[in-house]
Amino acid sequence: MKRAEIKFEYDVFENSDELNQADAALLDAARKVTSKAYAPYSNFLVGAVAELQNGETVSGTNQENASYPVGICAERVLLSAASMLHTNVPIKTIAISYHNLNGESSKPVSPCGMCRQALREYEDRTNQSIRLILAGMSGKVFIIDNVSQLLPFSFGGEDLK
Ligand code: THU
Repeated sequence: MKRAEIKFEYDVFENSDELNQADAALLDAARKVTSKAYAPYSNFLVGAVAELQNGETVSGTNQENASYPVGICAERVLLSAASMLHTNVPIKTIAISYHNLNGESSKPVSPCGMCRQALREYEDRTNQSIRLILAGMSGKVFIIDNVSQLLPFSFGGEDLK
């Protein structure tokens, strides 16, 4: 028997002023698009903007529903839009931010487990890792090189063969 270990490294920035111009612009767009969220139940407005390999950008915001489980996160709205509008074009980077109308918006957002699974599938199908820029409206920014790192031991298409 031996014990195994999984660890990953990510970049931590004190605030968005430390980002390069392209990353700062993408995060700024994610912060702005939070205003298009439909989140009357949680008051937690999430915005995500992706830069694609073909230079296009695609965004998504969370869309809630009075029947709560029907709601969908910003990340999966974005992935569905990207898949339709730019089919099979890899996503290079996604910036995600949020505006919490009930409290603070200064810690980096953490994508939910379901979105991690959906993001991981997108990486798999386009054969390219997706960088994530995670932030709130202010404060620290995390950059994750590869979405799959957020979902160790993930289940994927290869497991069904
Ligand atoms: N939400 C997202 O859209 N993305 C995340 O990364 C975290 C959570 C949404 C789901 C729900 O509409 C609201 O935020 C509160 O959970």
